[in-house]
Amino acid sequence: MIIAVDGPAGAGKSTVSKILAQRLGFLYIDTGAMYRALTLKALEDNTDLKDEEKVIELVSSISIDLINNPDGSLKVLLDGRDVSRLIREPRITKSVSDIAKIKGVREKMLILQRGLGLKNNAVLDGRDIGTVVFPNADKKFYIDANFKERVRRRYKELKEMGQEVTEEDIDKDLRNRDTIDSTRKIAPLRKADDAVLIDTTDMTIEEVANKMFEIIDNG
Ligand code: DC
Repeated sequence: MIIAVDGPAGAGKSTVSKILAQRLGFLYIDTGAMYRALTLKALEDNTDLKDEEKVIELVSSISIDLINNPDGSLKVLLDGRDVSRLIREPRITKSVSDIAKIKGVREKMLILQRGLGLKNNAVLDGRDIGTVVFPNADKKFYIDANFKERVRRRYKELKEMGQEVTEEDIDKDLRNRDTIDSTRKIAPLRKADDAVLIDTTDMTIEEVANKMFEIIDNG
């Protein structure tokens, strides 16, 4: 069984997807983390991010593994190295949307993500899961929240991770990523016609997870 969870940054997708996967005993696949791991590799190798050929070469040469820890958290391995924290740094967040808009990169990620999903019952979260990666997913959700609330949540999350950020930085980053992610030519962020829209602005994470669980349970 495949559950697709799409939506913009900061809407609460990854938190609820993790909860859902844990409750259902499914694999949690954070597809954004895969684009982030590639971005980290490109920055570490001083690859010119505008050189699409080079970035595409890079994506074919690395291995990305997602390990679900028993406590529900996610470990991201880049060529066997734990990069779970590094990929959340602002320098990665700033560049990831530019990497994710490259056609050859998305083609490679699509193969990896489908491979993972076909081998497991899985909850996948991202931008194009219900539209492109798994258009026949058993259940599709589109998780959204108003812009101000998304900024507030992302700010709180990064502060809790110990990052020195301001709400202004987050506002700028989300605006920029929303624009790139939803206007790119390949697989832009869009609600699938058959996805259930959940506006989480005034909901707690538990309420969102319960609602999704109910919808899945009722077929
Ligand atoms: O969910 P996130 O913020 O970790 O995702 C990071 C970036 O990766 C996001 O700005 C766009 C890109 N992404 C994508 O293009 N397609 C996906 N399925 C997941 C993420």
